[in-house]
Amino acid sequence: MSSAIVTGATGITGSAIVRHLLKDSQYKQIYTLSRSQKGEDDGKIKHAHIDLQSSAEDMAKDLSGVAGDVIFFCAYLARDAEDEAAKVNEAMLQSFIDALHITGALKQVKRIVLTCGLKQYGVHLGQVKQPMEETDPLLEGSNWPPNFYYNQQKVLANNAHKGSYTWTVTLPQDVLGYAKANFMNECTALGLYASVAKLAHPNSELPFPGSKANYMAFNCWTSANLHAKFCLWAAQAPNAANQVFNVVNGDTQSWQALWPRIAARFGCTVPREMFPGGERSKYLDFEPAGPTKLHDPPPVVVQATSDKPTVGMGLPELGKEPSTLYQQIDTTKWAKNEKVVKAWETLRDKYGLDQQAWDKATWGFLTFVLGREYSCVVTMSKARKMGWNGYEDTWDSFEEVFDMLEQAKILPPVSQLKGEKSLA
Ligand SMILES: NC(=O)c1ccc[n+]([C@@H]2O[C@H](COP(=O)([O-])OP(=O)(O)OC[C@H]3O[C@@H](n4cnc5c(N)ncnc54)[C@H](OP(=O)(O)O)[C@@H]3O)[C@@H](O)[C@H]2O)c1
Repeated sequence: MSSAIVTGATGITGSAIVRHLLKDSQYKQIYTLSRSQKGEDDGKIKHAHIDLQSSAEDMAKDLSGVAGDVIFFCAYLARDAEDEAAKVNEAMLQSFIDALHITGALKQVKRIVLTCGLKQYGVHLGQVKQPMEETDPLLEGSNWPPNFYYNQQKVLANNAHKGSYTWTVTLPQDVLGYAKANFMNECTALGLYASVAKLAHPNSELPFPGSKANYMAFNCWTSANLHAKFCLWAAQAPNAANQVFNVVNGDTQSWQALWPRIAARFGCTVPREMFPGGERSKYLDFEPAGPTKLHDPPPVVVQATSDKPTVGMGLPELGKEPSTLYQQIDTTKWAKNEKVVKAWETLRDKYGLDQQAWDKATWGFLTFVLGREYSCVVTMSKARKMGWNGYEDTWDSFEEVFDMLEQAKILPPVSQLKGEKSLA
């Protein structure tokens, strides 16, 4: 029988882990920690409010009586500047480990599972080697911005001597999930875009707001449920000790395959020509965004000059130019357009939707995930060779989350939305 501590228990990845721990009979006690709200309620759960930005000494007082064999560390604070993100997120993990050291609970911990992500490979900086593998070289040194995942991983390794824990790091791709009162997720922004386009666009057309290159590229996604199952597997698998793993659904997908399904689900039509202006297309009088240059050089340059054989080797043209972001519709500006806002308000009032979902939707994140002009594909070979056999179909993951968002009154009920007429 095991007990677990989950930090960031109310977030997208953390809340899914809590739901899966509840279903796992191995775990008899679950401590959920977060700052502003309480998560799931259950007899197995004890919740504690904690501010991971406070000192280890103060945190230790809040952690009195909290102990577990496994820690799932999913707390995260977004910061625009990379150096600030690195400082803040590294400090939260370090202070938490120090606090458990003070209370004595660190001695009981057998494994710490830390959720990181594909920024590990620099996907936010430009084109990366395809597919990404856990052995790919890190982007370290003065040419590269700080990376909070690297800092957190060093904290895990450097503090292991204070207890007897081993660690596992997960690298999910864009996470498909839902957490109460957390509107910063890809499915919320996409679902709102499609629902509002149904009313705001002529003929209820659903143009892909991103770039043509992205529409044609290949990508992977990570369901929050699949990631949670992976974390529970990694917490117990002996060979997952002190290892970093990619965690994606197991299929490779693309917007060219998913977008028509999104249009059909929300009762929209696919434009006869998706990119009428070619690579630098634009839709109606909505403003495009970009092209915006990313980091110079792109990460593939490091892989191309690595001493290991990679895709970049022998292809000197790779990495000469920084990668770009382009959106044929700037979704941040689109969400402020008068007709768009009117369509949102019509849906909001008719179906009792949550205004915060619109106000807090991460349109800027869509610029990145729909606008990047390169693929993001990872391999799951390392985990599979060690016995992991989880898989989820990406379109099923999208549908499941859209259904949850509908239940939470963030999106309108599609059964009724399909009967709505375009106001344009
Ligand atoms: N979401 C994605 O699409 C995605 C994709 C790839 C990788 N990742 C990575 O996954 C990790 C977890 O992200 P997430 O998306 O699950 O985060 P999230 O949904 O934003 O949740 C963050 C959690 O951290 C807690 N938290 C933040 N500051 C805290 C503090 N000072 N003290 C205590 N708790 C605090 C929050 O609690 P309160 O709400 O109470 O503040 C919340 O429970 C991050 O490293 C992220 O980069 C996420």
